[in-house]
Amino acid sequence: MTTTQRPWSERLEIVRGDITCQQVDAIVNSANPSLLGGGGVDGAIHRRAGPQLLEECRKLGGCATGEAKITAGYNLPARHVIHTVGPIWKGGDQNEDELLAQCYRSCFALAEKHGLRSLAFPSISTGAYHFPLDLAASIALREIIVGLERLPYLDKVTVVCFDDRTWTCYQQALAAYKERTGT
Ligand code: APR
Repeated sequence: MTTTQRPWSERLEIVRGDITCQQVDAIVNSANPSLLGGGGVDGAIHRRAGPQLLEECRKLGGCATGEAKITAGYNLPARHVIHTVGPIWKGGDQNEDELLAQCYRSCFALAEKHGLRSLAFPSISTGAYHFPLDLAASIALREIIVGLERLPYLDKVTVVCFDDRTWTCYQQALAAYKERTGT
């Protein structure tokens, strides 16, 4: 497998859009422990993937918070869906930060196991799960950059922001990371 020597900053993209349109090896779904669908990005992914996705999810036996499971993408342009379950924000003293970081690490572990070359993430837990957006963005970017540095053959990771506020927050978090680390 050819490796890419490009620095992480050339392999990370933050875009404004709809993750169900991303033509990548895997899109990440922000699911709930049942893995049987829901609203938000979970609902959008299941709608676009079609009923076979739910059929496969039924066989997975659910997913714990912080963990991730992979399925096919069916009618989506993405080959796979990686379903992860983010923490519900309960004020910040229930280990939410670490659980959110674990979601990203679990997704990268599956990307490595399946030799995926491109990945797209939504802003996990910042919708119905009410995780503060600025804190979630800094955790997400830190873990995504670690993942990119750990997997040199991973050509592209895209963070797909569904609204302007999320896009602005991720851009600010990236700028802050670069300033803090001098990268
Ligand atoms: N593409 C990209 N991002 C999207 C899309 C989409 N099509 N639809 C929604 N989003 C964004 C939201 O705007 C938010 O920024 O995904 C982010 C996560 O929001 P939610 O989908 O509400 O997910 P989350 O906060 O992690 O809550 C998960 O909601 O839908 C249920 O079953 C799901 O119980 C679980 C919970």
